[in-house]
Amino acid sequence: MDHTDKSAPVRIGIAGLGTVGGGLLRLLDTQAELLAGRCGRRLIVTAVSARDRSKDRGVDLSAVRWYEDAAELATDPDVDVVVELIGGSDGIAKATVEAALSNGKHVVTANKALIAHHGTALARMAEERGLSLAYEAAVAGGIPAIKGLREGLAGNSIREVHGILNGTCNYILTEMRTTGRDFADVLADAQRLGYAEADPSFDIDGVDAAHKLAILTAVAFGTQVDFPAIHVEGIRHVSALDIEYADELGYRIRLLGIARRTEHGIEQRVHPCMVPVGSPIGATDGVFNAVVADGDFVDKVVLVGRGAGAGPTASAVAADLVDIARGRLTPTFAVPADMLTAPTPSPLDRRRGRYYVRLMVLDRPGVIADVAAALRDQSVSMEAFLQRGRAPGEAVPVVLTTHETGEASMRRALERIGALDAVLEPPRMIRIEDF
Ligand code: NAP
Ligand code: HSE
Repeated sequence: MDHTDKSAPVRIGIAGLGTVGGGLLRLLDTQAELLAGRCGRRLIVTAVSARDRSKDRGVDLSAVRWYEDAAELATDPDVDVVVELIGGSDGIAKATVEAALSNGKHVVTANKALIAHHGTALARMAEERGLSLAYEAAVAGGIPAIKGLREGLAGNSIREVHGILNGTCNYILTEMRTTGRDFADVLADAQRLGYAEADPSFDIDGVDAAHKLAILTAVAFGTQVDFPAIHVEGIRHVSALDIEYADELGYRIRLLGIARRTEHGIEQRVHPCMVPVGSPIGATDGVFNAVVADGDFVDKVVLVGRGAGAGPTASAVAADLVDIARGRLTPTFAVPADMLTAPTPSPLDRRRGRYYVRLMVLDRPGVIADVAAALRDQSVSMEAFLQRGRAPGEAVPVVLTTHETGEASMRRALERIGALDAVLEPPRMIRIEDF
């Protein structure tokens, strides 16, 4: 980039022209004048790369240089900023970002997998060269979660950050509740709408949310990105029955990412939770994401918006491009990469909280006494108990909730309950978070 001439256009190379890349092309075209005013210079696309040159991207690309190889685009002397929108933690996406930084180009990416796995090393690489590695779009789509946390809450020590970080899962859980449609049917919708990852198991198994949580944790606590430390569970085991019981108990089921500073270290976990219906998280439906940050001076801040899709994600990429065009350079994870500390993970067994448990049991005398004994022996106190219907000698669902207890005790109790003859399926447990 011509750093001497602050009015020279910023020349952008876009690698990946799918849902997000296509959205970005349309945004840069539609908002060209608005962005020029906000940046004091024009943002122009000079190079692009994708797999299929013949695909219509909805914008005229005849005057733009086409690259078969995205890593080669990253070396183009007519490109100042490389926008990586291919995806994947390694392979061509990583090669493209590394080539861009090695060649003195700023990078903008929506690739949470890449940042979750290689964020600390890439941040060092960018900062050593005085370059920007920007990734607003990687976390919670259109919500300015990174800027909100890193810049907006810079005066706070962050105690906790949590939220709905995967639009596909929230969309599925919402549709299952409101329409009674089944899981596979709703997932197909989310894929058609461009919300899901190339491999949708990343969405439904919680991996995508964990990628985003790893990034939020680094920004919130000034720690190196530590994806392997995250406890991850997805939504495959959440049944229509759980959704119904949650309703009856005054909860919504959400896949949440939670990062908390505890006396034992940094706790990071992704799993389905029950949250009160009236809480901001409980009220966030559909493809919407919500990010809640708790700072020592500001207290709780809630950000809600669309977490996936072409328009919202392109909006976040554009915000990073505006920062670069204005010459605004911020340490990648709020503190310089060399000052990020190695986090001490706090194990999930240390969690204290309430639990929902669903069992399929034979309807016969003494079963509930055995379940209660297993809980009693681990000092787990029951709060509510529900058995609907009566089917002597047959399987019936039994649901209970507990008062606050320790995760390790709960696990031991469930192990014993799961081994009872009359318990026909593995117990299903969902943690209750009283946000
Ligand atoms: P996508 O629709 O599958 O698009 C991927 C693009 O990459 C396509 O244009 C594809 O080319 C191109 N591509 C694949 N392999 C390539 C290669 N070897 N060289 C050059 N180009 C290649 O994916 P997406 O949904 O836009 O996601 C892109 C990134 O944004 C991912 O990191 C994703 O996690 C992230 N993200 C997505 C969303 C969302 O809502 N979709 C939201 C936030 C972040 P062809 O078009 O020719 O096949
Ligand atoms: N697959 C992701 C989601 C896209 O559903 O939230 C946004 O990162």
